[in-house]
Amino acid sequence: MCGIAGITRRRAGVLSDLLKALKNLEYRGYDSAGVAISLGSRLLVRKGVGTIDQVLGGVSLEDGRMGIGHTRWATHGGVSVENAHPHTSCDGRIALVHNGTLDGFERLREELRARGHVFKSDTDTEVIVHLVEEGIEEGLDPISSLSRALSELGGSYAVAMISADSDSIFVARYKSPLVIGIGNGENYCASDVAALLHLTREFVFLEDGELAEISPEGIRIWRMVGGKLESVNRGAERVEWVPQQMEKGGYEHFMMKEIFEQPHILRKLAETVEYYVKFSEGLRSALKDGWLSIVAAGTSLHAGMIGKYYLSRVSGLRSEVVIASEFPEWSHHLGKGDVVLAVSQSGETADVLEAIRIARDRGARVFSIVNVPGSTLTRLSEDYVFIQAGPEIGVAATKTFTAQVAVLYIIASLMSDSDSGVRLMRDLEVVSEEILGSMEGLSEEARNVAKLIRMSKHAFFLGRGINYPTALEGALKLKEISYIHAEGYAAGEYKHGPLALIEEGVPVIAVIPTEEALVNKIIYNLMEVRARGAFTITVQPPEVSLPSDREIRVRVRDELTSPIAYAVPLQLIAYHTAVELGRNPDKPRNLAKSVTVE
Ligand code: G6P
Repeated sequence: MCGIAGITRRRAGVLSDLLKALKNLEYRGYDSAGVAISLGSRLLVRKGVGTIDQVLGGVSLEDGRMGIGHTRWATHGGVSVENAHPHTSCDGRIALVHNGTLDGFERLREELRARGHVFKSDTDTEVIVHLVEEGIEEGLDPISSLSRALSELGGSYAVAMISADSDSIFVARYKSPLVIGIGNGENYCASDVAALLHLTREFVFLEDGELAEISPEGIRIWRMVGGKLESVNRGAERVEWVPQQMEKGGYEHFMMKEIFEQPHILRKLAETVEYYVKFSEGLRSALKDGWLSIVAAGTSLHAGMIGKYYLSRVSGLRSEVVIASEFPEWSHHLGKGDVVLAVSQSGETADVLEAIRIARDRGARVFSIVNVPGSTLTRLSEDYVFIQAGPEIGVAATKTFTAQVAVLYIIASLMSDSDSGVRLMRDLEVVSEEILGSMEGLSEEARNVAKLIRMSKHAFFLGRGINYPTALEGALKLKEISYIHAEGYAAGEYKHGPLALIEEGVPVIAVIPTEEALVNKIIYNLMEVRARGAFTITVQPPEVSLPSDREIRVRVRDELTSPIAYAVPLQLIAYHTAVELGRNPDKPRNLAKSVTVE
């Protein structure tokens, strides 16, 4: 889980743009970093342990016309200067950065060592650069040499390579993301489009198994077919995202900015309901009598569970939700005639992509709901729609959760009634306005709750029906950024075990339904935990009166849209608790936003 970037341009001076690109990729990992700059006749490499700022900020380096860089999240080899990328050939004239994991590199490393190559790191990556060096010594051109090296290795890779003898960046991808940015007299590459928004909005998307040469004048793409390179023609696509979306915009953290963006995204979704009609029709007609499996991970999984509720209640359709990493073992029944609906913010989560490949191999059709333009999932799907949330930088997903839920609501509604567009637009506009009007107040209340629960060791979130997944999401948010142990439960299931964990003062946060029959049930659950000493906090509609110690009143339109409205205070509770505890909510320990390893 690393980020890579590269720039080649006619004029000199790539360093500051390269560092900005790498900083935009830090959500992919940030335990070490490095760059290689071409100074015409030689390469300059600077790398170290820490974030981009710690390793390269304020360091004065010679600048050049071309450079590549890397932000690392260790998988092979510990966190050390030696293991940081770029890695270089024995003669120091080739430098390479890599995102992914290689199989079978140990044997090749021993063979290369036996042939006199000296390895400076424990990484799998370094094998590639020595293999390329051998190819070039044999007289191969860089792209053929890179292609031959990669064909000897299994696993996943997105690589960018420069040499002191060329003005081009050579790149390749297989099962790891890589995009090419198009500029004027300069061109770029990076792990995703967000990294390059300060330079361009025009992109060429590579497919798995493709390689490219990126020079200041243009790009050339090849595909490896049966050991040979075949030329590929591909046009550029323009993305909607703009560079301002990559800034904090006056907020202390990206997470807070992204929480506050939610009503605006909902309004945008309301205005563009029509965009989802074709996709919904395609999904409906693909389904016929087959199974519909929703596949996702993390927060997207919780959105997918709410999607299942919508499909059942709004569209009368049966579906199942499968955890992406479990999909291979739980999908033996899937085959021709079945449909997989993947939900993913990044479109790059390795477990989701693997599930999709398996689904396709089994003959199922694949549709997806994605946020990041040009991501691998869009390339592997028969059809896809965007959730239009813009780039999300905070590692903990917030705005993309509510956007996914809203899009699933739109799709389920359109699948059952293709004329529901106007009603949907009005629903989402109302939800957007209600959140917008109460945001500041909710934040204040969440901050007060955060002060009360910040010293707790455990917290429990309870929900029922459509808000059972909302409770799971509330718990996930709290645990991932505050490091307080938090679990979400279906309120009725809680008595079958977890109730034993309740003792004096343990916070129980209950997400209250809007429908009366459900409210009565959850009141009983609340009384049960209170009787055992729990400190109860209810996230609830304003008019309901409940046995709780603290209430956060949320204007909820109806049961179906309530997960969107309720997610906001739950996100804010997690955010303020993390901040109260002095944690950085944007970069929780051990976690990366885009998990590109299985
Ligand atoms: C990581 C992120 C989560 C995200 C999950 C799934 O764990 O930290 O925020 O929900 O991956 O990612 P996806 O991009 O597939 O939605």
